[in-house]
Amino acid sequence: MAMAFHNNNLNLLLLGVFPLLVCLSVTTTIAGPPILDVSSLNRSSFPAGFVFGTATSSYQVEGAWNEDGKGASTWDNLTHSHPEQIEDRSTGDIAIDHYHRYKEDIKIMKDMNTDAYRFSISWARILPRMQPFVTLFHWDLPQALQDEYKGFNSPNISKDFEEYADICFKNFGERVKHWITLNEPWTYSMRMEQPYMSSHYQLLAHAAAVKLYKTKYQASQKGLIGITLNSNWFIPFSNKTIDEEAAQRALDFQFGW
Ligand SMILES: *[C@@H]1O[C@H](CO)[C@@H](O)[C@H](O)[C@H]1NC(C)=O
Ligand SMILES: *[C@@H]1O[C@H](CO)[C@@H](O)[C@H](O)[C@H]1NC(C)=O
Ligand SMILES: *[C@@H]1O[C@H](CO)[C@@H](O)[C@H](O)[C@H]1NC(C)=O
Ligand SMILES: *[C@@H]1O[C@H](CO)[C@@H](O)[C@H](O)[C@H]1NC(C)=O
Repeated sequence: MAMAFHNNNLNLLLLGVFPLLVCLSVTTTIAGPPILDVSSLNRSSFPAGFVFGTATSSYQVEGAWNEDGKGASTWDNLTHSHPEQIEDRSTGDIAIDHYHRYKEDIKIMKDMNTDAYRFSISWARILPRMQPFVTLFHWDLPQALQDEYKGFNSPNISKDFEEYADICFKNFGERVKHWITLNEPWTYSMRMEQPYMSSHYQLLAHAAAVKLYKTKYQASQKGLIGITLNSNWFIPFSNKTIDEEAAQRALDFQFGW
């Protein structure tokens, strides 16, 4: 097996789990008389920048098939529900236990003098059937918009936020079924010079994104869109009307968006 990448002037060639010279000598023994004399081949026979390495796939080496919240993959399902389909009925449940022993394995690779290690990420380990709930704005405003018109302290934010949301809905909406426009706008506003204006423009930006989603995407993508609000809870100091109203006012101030 060989894979070549041409990227940023890096020529990367990775060959199975065997060093290059082993692979070539195997070929020559099978083929009888050598097609090519490789006995003098060594690293300096290859161009500068050539990368030697080993390669694995997650299912074949990791094991730990159900540890640390990993979900089941199709391989887990197949080997467990149809063991007869694997000649020796083995599974990747433990494999070479790379998940736990990767440090030793990498030390072996270093001892083999390899430069690179190609491995795969187990999708089911990273996303064990979790639903993505995606927040569009969690306070990391582009500096350019802060410089241009003070970000959420300006009405101009709505249009830019809507455009940004449009790109996200278009590109990720097939997979993301829960959108959150803003994270804790109350907290964000409290840190601004003009908290009331910021709250107002955050609401307008939120409304623009929600309207866009509902009119342009929701029918086909069938998702939901909302907002993340945070609030303390307030209990009247006594059951005098004035205290009950004060508690309600405090709740509205934080939670009544
Ligand atoms: C290593 O390869 C280079 C280029 O193919 C060759 O000139 C050199 O003799 C080789 N060295 C050894 C120790 O085989
Ligand atoms: C494999 O997947 C099918 C379909 O989701 C499921 O019914 C079955 O229980 C799974 N088998 C195992 C062993 O997890
Ligand atoms: C804000 O938007 C208005 C109306 O679109 C535009 O005329 C103005 O140049 C914008 N201001 C900044 C600072 O981007
Ligand atoms: C007034 O407050 C007390 C104690 O908190 C409570 O037991 C009582 O039911 C309240 N009365 C009314 C009319 O809400």
